[in-house]
Amino acid sequence: MQPVGFFDSGIGGITVLREVRRLLPGEDLLYLADQAHCPYGSRPLDELRAIAAACAAWLIERGAKLVVVACNTASAAALTDLRRRFPDTPFVGMVPPVKPAAAHTRSGVVGVLATPATLAGDLLRDVIEQWANGVRVVPQACPGLVEHIEEGMFDSPATMALLRQYVAPLLDAGADTIVLGCTHYPLLLPRLRALVGNDIRLLDAAPAVAQRVAQVLRERGLTRAPIRMSGSVTYATTGDPARLADLIDRIDLPRGRVEQARLEGRVG
Ligand code: DGL
Repeated sequence: MQPVGFFDSGIGGITVLREVRRLLPGEDLLYLADQAHCPYGSRPLDELRAIAAACAAWLIERGAKLVVVACNTASAAALTDLRRRFPDTPFVGMVPPVKPAAAHTRSGVVGVLATPATLAGDLLRDVIEQWANGVRVVPQACPGLVEHIEEGMFDSPATMALLRQYVAPLLDAGADTIVLGCTHYPLLLPRLRALVGNDIRLLDAAPAVAQRVAQVLRERGLTRAPIRMSGSVTYATTGDPARLADLIDRIDLPRGRVEQARLEGRVG
């Protein structure tokens, strides 16, 4: 069966795969963690485009019928370019959920946590222009957070200190809604919740992206015919498969086989 493909710089996009798995349990899923190039968030645009094209090509060569760019940074930098390079493959990308955040805020202030590259790109600016609707959007870059998560430091004092440092300006600005603009951040949800309390809304785009994947598959007649058996989950990494397997084991993510992937010669 042709799988639905996903890629990210590491384990973050698995939070998107998890939602797709919930919604479409019959689909085979193939996930590429490009850990050799992690983090993406501090790389220049042309480099990000070359990396994203190599990841997409790898998935398409393995038969992916749709590619989910399960990374806000790569989506902001490369989604348009990917659609041009691979016109026969449907792509679904991440967009920071500013629209529902602006619709729900009562204080009129929305915070966005994301990587430096996502905040610097046009995508977020366009989304704010289109959907903020008079609501004040306060962006907060979070350098270092992805690296801590990739190291498996979910509870460490250093990670908590970073989180506190990044969330404090948003709370000070009066935000009652915080957008998780990087697919890694939902992996820190319990810590974030403990930090901000129950009155702040934390928004993750993954469930909406899963709905979009289901819709695109349906529209293109690519949905796997309903069968009783659940689909397979396969992970591949450009880093160390044993390390990736260990990380997935430690957190609440779908289990699957882990393979080695090589992009050598493709990324400039
Ligand atoms: N999960 C990626 C994102 O959504 C992290 C990017 C990075 O590696 O910095 O932006």
